[in-house]
Amino acid sequence: TPVSLNLHYAEPFYGEHEWQQLQPAVSEAHRLLHEGTGAGSDFLGWMDLPVNDDQEERTRLENAAAHIRAHADVLLVIGIGGSSLGSKAVISALTHSFHAYLEDKDTPDIIFLGEHLGSDYTAELFDALADKRVYVNVISKSGTTTEPAIAFRFVKSWLEDTCGKEEAARRIYATTDREKGALKTLAHAEGYETFVVPDDVGGRYSVFSPVGLLPIAVAGISISDLLAGGAEARHAFAAEGLRHNPAYQYAAFRYLMYQKGKYIELLSTYEPKLTDFSEWWKQLYGESEGKDGKGLFPASVKFTTDLHSMGQYIQEGRRHLFETVLHIGTSTKEIKIPDMSGNEDGLNYLAGERLHDVNEKAYQGTLLAHTDGNVPNAIVGIERLDAYSLGALIYFFEKACALSGYLLGVNPFDQPGVESYKQNMFALLGKPGYEKQRAELEKRLD
Ligand code: PA5
Repeated sequence: TPVSLNLHYAEPFYGEHEWQQLQPAVSEAHRLLHEGTGAGSDFLGWMDLPVNDDQEERTRLENAAAHIRAHADVLLVIGIGGSSLGSKAVISALTHSFHAYLEDKDTPDIIFLGEHLGSDYTAELFDALADKRVYVNVISKSGTTTEPAIAFRFVKSWLEDTCGKEEAARRIYATTDREKGALKTLAHAEGYETFVVPDDVGGRYSVFSPVGLLPIAVAGISISDLLAGGAEARHAFAAEGLRHNPAYQYAAFRYLMYQKGKYIELLSTYEPKLTDFSEWWKQLYGESEGKDGKGLFPASVKFTTDLHSMGQYIQEGRRHLFETVLHIGTSTKEIKIPDMSGNEDGLNYLAGERLHDVNEKAYQGTLLAHTDGNVPNAIVGIERLDAYSLGALIYFFEKACALSGYLLGVNPFDQPGVESYKQNMFALLGKPGYEKQRAELEKRLD
């Protein structure tokens, strides 16, 4: 399969009989998912996105991406949560880590905005944009999310001041609902080119829709390869039987850990280019499972960096953790440790070694140390960091997440809890219609 799962280092923490006893629940969850009869079944569009054959939309998207690549110095991607984390994960993983500092480049720098309300960050961005040719992809399924909507106000007004209203409209692409929402209305009024977020695809499952694909294509990443990886995983992880489906094995393993009081899942990576992937993964699992008083808490660590901070806790702290290690088979670029004539640092025994192999030993050593410290470890592996493998990995985690949600008895496709802070914020900001709530909240804040 394009994604492997190794449970060897987790097996000592559960019995074979416990595993076998999960098959009926897995079969039932599989049925809910594949027959579309479970909670949230209006949002199963993600399952077929990698094999979506809307060639017209695809060609239009590729053309837009090629145009932006050819004309922009910077693409601002404005979105939050499911509207930004997927493309950010893929772009960070597959493009040059120091793209912004390279002299010769044939793709624009991509900057994400609208993911928070940080004043200093937002103000400073415009200092960096002076003299740059800026294009914009504003993404919001609902079209009404506050953070990206505010960021877009800033960008729209700055761009119109800089290059005029007509040119600004040519440089802005909106990805939103087919018909409704404030962004759709605005895009229509201003004449922006638009791309559609399908009704039946939720934000965190939208990487393979235009939400993810337009920024990813602008970054020069092959969306055909990404989708091919997703399509391969869709096929590979379709079986009902636990024995034949690594995505379901991963879901079942997580469920077993949860039942045993291992309430925190740590996704550990050994490559900084995957840091944003972990953020995508955390949203996928946190928003899908954390409801009705249930759910694993998804956390992430980046190794070996965090072995010098969180490593102490993982090794010896409270034993409510298990680890899912994201393992990359080979590195794309080879870099070897140089010789030092005097061997002052005592590292000449490593001279000529590939840094990737040193990292591999760190991974193996950590795996054994953490399992010795009673932290069960599962290893999710891909061969290399390329578009195909990443597409497969994304689908693997999406499929496992949907099944995990059904095993847990929650709706993996809604997020009712994210409304609470929004309602309070609207009331405190004085949004019309929220007068009563405002008075009540302000009294509590006093
Ligand atoms: O997964 C989700 O549904 C959320 O994270 C949303 O994607 C996020 O709140 C942004 O919503 P929208 O695209 O409507 O602006």
